[in-house]
Amino acid sequence: MINAAARRVRSPKVVNVQDFRSLARRRLPKVVFDYLDGGAEDEITLRENRRAFEDVTFRPRHAVAFAECDLRTNVLGCDLALPMILAPIGYSSVMHSRGEIAAARAAGDAGTAYILSTISGVALEDVKAATFGPLFYQLYLIGGRKAAEFTIERARNAGFSGLFVTIDTAVAGMRERDFRNGMKELIGGSMFEKIRFSPQILARPLWLMRFLLDGGVPVLPNVVVPGRGPMPLTDVGTALAQSTITWEDLRWIHDIWQGPVIVKGVLTSDDARRAIDVGASAIVVSNHGGRQLDTVPASLRALPEIVSAVNGQIEVLMDGGIRRGADIVKAICLGARAVLCGRAYAYGLAAAGQAGVARALEILREDLNRTLRLLGCPAIKALTDSYVDCSPPRNNKRQFNSM
Ligand SMILES: Cc1cc2nc3c(=O)[nH]c(=O)nc-3n(C[C@H](O)[C@H](O)[C@H](O)COP(=O)(O)O)c2cc1C
Repeated sequence: MINAAARRVRSPKVVNVQDFRSLARRRLPKVVFDYLDGGAEDEITLRENRRAFEDVTFRPRHAVAFAECDLRTNVLGCDLALPMILAPIGYSSVMHSRGEIAAARAAGDAGTAYILSTISGVALEDVKAATFGPLFYQLYLIGGRKAAEFTIERARNAGFSGLFVTIDTAVAGMRERDFRNGMKELIGGSMFEKIRFSPQILARPLWLMRFLLDGGVPVLPNVVVPGRGPMPLTDVGTALAQSTITWEDLRWIHDIWQGPVIVKGVLTSDDARRAIDVGASAIVVSNHGGRQLDTVPASLRALPEIVSAVNGQIEVLMDGGIRRGADIVKAICLGARAVLCGRAYAYGLAAAGQAGVARALEILREDLNRTLRLLGCPAIKALTDSYVDCSPPRNNKRQFNSM
């Protein structure tokens, strides 16, 4: 099966991340594909995350020659071979059997880091054991502070390099595709409620076999509620709404973790400054891939204002809409230290497990090298805003926040 997956992703028809999206659509039941692919409400922010990259054009320096460009960078004290980290993706095990392990392994093999979501079906210790690469944990407070304290202790003992605390999820966004398709019923419903999924699931026998071999919908082994054990995956929506993270919680997390805390979900300079005040080591300019509050700006659009406010005090990462190496280069030119990729690797995961993630990362690495060479820039660390132009094209009123 592994060879078949490797063959599939090596097909000449798979040349970019969009091709993985098509493969994922063919391999997943519709309800699962839409969960991965979709955004909140009218999906305006989801689309804007991609479109914002079109408004930034390159300013290349020609007639310079490098055999290879230096793609390395350093994020939060970790040396990375690539300026991209794998973002936390909840329910990865529903996309592919033990998806968290597959993604962490592929990240480590590519010389980069993986962020494990709280909404994961695999114990954090098992994920750590699966990869040589740096590993981070994304924390929600579902289950309450006591459960979080226990998880933080486990992450420390396992050797995780930092905590990403996501602040844009006061409640789950209204993803209308999920609501219509019945994603909640697929994950948490009774057998009777699940009958409606039979046609789409039976049409994807490989996915079904893996899902059943994995034992169906797992519990959350990293959210252990005192006296109750691991939280069932089914309670997540309600649990999120009951556990909104506040700045006070961030201060508390910073004190008990005593390592790098990264605030994920910053879209304004005010929140960036508050993150610095609570002791964050980095922030992620992010709108959760357009899955939370619709019509917030594209992350790339919010980036310059935030980079300017942070003024080098802490590291600034960004995510949202990264599908090509050129996108990564643009984000770095606008001040990001590195980016997080979400769907770009998750489509690969859904299409072909570890081999799919590895190939998606390889495509992005080749893209990066080619883009830098065409740009006439020798290294990721040498990128500056002089390589891009953000002025909107004529008869296009969209503007970037000034730097
Ligand atoms: C299917 C899916 C599940 C996600 N789950 C989480 C999560 O559990 N925690 C979190 O902080 N972000 C989560 N995110 C957001 C990603 O970490 C990241 O911010 C986003 O995917 C970036 O946008 P992109 O997919 O366009 O790259 C999820 C995104 C997707 C697509």
